[in-house]
Amino acid sequence: MRLVLTPGVLPRLERAHDFKAFSVAVPTATEDRLDALVAPVGELAEDRRHVWVRPDAVRALTLLSGDGSWAEKFDEMVTYAARNGWTDETGRFRAHIEEVQIPAPVDAASFRDAMRRFASGVCVVAAGEGAKRCGMTVSAVSSVSAEPPMVLVCLNRASGSHDCVTGAGTFSINILSSEQEEEAMLFAGQRDRHGADRFDDLWTQDALGAPVLTTAHHALICTSDSQHVSGSHTILVGRVVGAHSGETEGALLNYNGELRQGTWAA
Ligand SMILES: Cc1cc2nc3c(=O)[nH]c(=O)nc-3n(C[C@H](O)[C@H](O)[C@H](O)COP(=O)(O)O)c2cc1C
Repeated sequence: MRLVLTPGVLPRLERAHDFKAFSVAVPTATEDRLDALVAPVGELAEDRRHVWVRPDAVRALTLLSGDGSWAEKFDEMVTYAARNGWTDETGRFRAHIEEVQIPAPVDAASFRDAMRRFASGVCVVAAGEGAKRCGMTVSAVSSVSAEPPMVLVCLNRASGSHDCVTGAGTFSINILSSEQEEEAMLFAGQRDRHGADRFDDLWTQDALGAPVLTTAHHALICTSDSQHVSGSHTILVGRVVGAHSGETEGALLNYNGELRQGTWAA
């Protein structure tokens, strides 16, 4: 296993199924920041070439720790380390530090330019009831799994609707029809209307508790399953508990910085 520690990024566990070796990787030229870098997972050893790693910090980094056979093998690894005298009195085990070259990210303009080439649909994610309704335009939506049916949506934590949508137990994903460019603009904050003021009488309240745009191309009702902080966004994963089909013929598309009408019939 290798624990990768990068400044400003959550610790990451690589090769989680390799129980024969354990190291801590840090970027080159971070010598002066090592104490702070290793703090979330343990403590720098006196020689500054090893880290005392807390086993619970490693367990927390991998969803596999809920998997009995992974947890068992990990415990065996820690016991093996203890037998060899590589643990301290608090149960932390010692791992050596490796310096690795971590590639620098591309600049924001190159990233945006690349992502503009990825054609997507356009949706309004919405939550809440009455005067507490909120909704925003999103294109970062993806199917996650069919059994059970799950989807994800990526929401900027700086957006006004973020806390309302991520804090709701139920939310809707309204896939906009080719005629709904105006809704896309309204819910993207381009019409100076905010919160519940963005909703009109084309919206109804689904029995499960989320606002639904009756004229949407299609709408999914989701219960909140999990949330993951990633960069500037929250990845919100929902279990799909309802679906409404609209009577519209085609979807709104987002491609190359423009909204376009899908040209096929549904
Ligand atoms: C076509 C389109 C797609 C968008 N996709 C996303 C997205 O996936 N995630 C996101 O956080 N913001 C996205 N935005 C930006 C938000 O809609 C915008 O920042 C919105 O104003 C945020 O909600 P607020 O007005 O409540 O702050 C998109 C905007 C447009 C026009």
